[in-house]
Amino acid sequence: MPAVKITETCLRDGHQSLLATRLKTSEMLPIVEKMDEVGYNAMEVWGGATFDSAIRYLNEDPWERLREIKKRTKKTKLQMLVRGQNLVGYRHYADDVVDLFIAKSIENGIDIIRTFDALNDLRNLESTITATKKYGGHCQGCIAYASSPVHTIDYYVEKVKGLMALGVDSLCIKDMSGILLPDDAYTLIKRMKEITDLPIEMHTHCTSGVAQLMYQKSVEAGADIVDTAISTLSSGTSQPATEVFQAAWQDSDFNPGLNMKLLEEIADYFKPIRANYVKEGILKINAMYTDPKALIYQIPGGMLSNLMAQLEGMKAFSKYEAVLKEVPLVRKDLGYPPLVTPMSQMVGAQAVFNVMMGERYKVVPKEIKNYVKGLYGQPPAPFDPVVQKKIIGEEAPITCRPADLLEPELAKCQAEIGTYAQTPEDLLMYAIYPDIAKKYLEARQ
Ligand code: CO
Repeated sequence: MPAVKITETCLRDGHQSLLATRLKTSEMLPIVEKMDEVGYNAMEVWGGATFDSAIRYLNEDPWERLREIKKRTKKTKLQMLVRGQNLVGYRHYADDVVDLFIAKSIENGIDIIRTFDALNDLRNLESTITATKKYGGHCQGCIAYASSPVHTIDYYVEKVKGLMALGVDSLCIKDMSGILLPDDAYTLIKRMKEITDLPIEMHTHCTSGVAQLMYQKSVEAGADIVDTAISTLSSGTSQPATEVFQAAWQDSDFNPGLNMKLLEEIADYFKPIRANYVKEGILKINAMYTDPKALIYQIPGGMLSNLMAQLEGMKAFSKYEAVLKEVPLVRKDLGYPPLVTPMSQMVGAQAVFNVMMGERYKVVPKEIKNYVKGLYGQPPAPFDPVVQKKIIGEEAPITCRPADLLEPELAKCQAEIGTYAQTPEDLLMYAIYPDIAKKYLEARQ
């Protein structure tokens, strides 16, 4: 068994999962040079919700953060997460936006671009993969892990073949809900290894409590890289702690070869920072609890607490059990979308409407209508025909790649924002988050 590599996530997913993505650039920079010496495979430092959060809550330029981190990183590759055609936002952007965004991400310091689509519709990954290769980046294609009757090992193996055909450089099994069980991971990786020599990276969250066992079985099956977070920003809704794997695998063939002394110093560095976020009420105790409900009900813990809050807000908590029963039925009607953002919120809202109105699909939110029209991509399984008819009538869902329907956006954005956008990076900020970027760019000028 070869050594396992470790990707450190604390500067992206770690604080996104525990600290509502509030870690400031000024809190990151003093430790980056030390992190660069640890021996990580890569550091995930950008993308996901960090782009939005930097502008919206921290009054920071996310591009500036990336450049400052890059300046301090000489040895370790920098990694980012994009949501396929949604990039770092919540809707599909046109291909010209995708192309420029990927070009500028790489130019400003990103080495590895990890791209995923919540529905595993590979057409939603095409533009990001093409652009990453065009601009010389390492492209990592994800399969988003979900559990349902259609999400079989064969289904994932087919998706892996599709990603390979698109020319990705490595593969990631992205278990965003933390529900991948150790034996399933083992089987899946073994099957993948039969058809590919590409490196396989595992990504999960500790939410349900099974993460460390899953990583152990994964490396036994031949997984090449695991995602972990330094202990002070690990566990709970975040990744498992980095130091644990260095300690556990030190004397084995898996030895990741990280510098344990530096890991301790990095963990200590984040202690007072974390304490501040606890004091400010941003790091909540709930985020640290182990919540195996996702394994039992197949509904992610975060979604359950959202549903509870929604029903309490409507003074209808007595309907909680009925809504819990409705969620899997809605999911089946809608072709088993994985219960991750944005589908978890959409399916949850529809289940609440179905129960509260006393008639199923009497009220349908716009997002669900668009989803059934095919605008998010192809669902994992066909829609229930009766439900589809009730939601969009005789209208036929689109069958093309959703982004094929989008006109180029950049010229229009440039005309709107004018001289407030002084660089292509400014323009991208505006194209992706027009409202908050306009405020930010105006104030800066
Ligand atoms: Co994650």
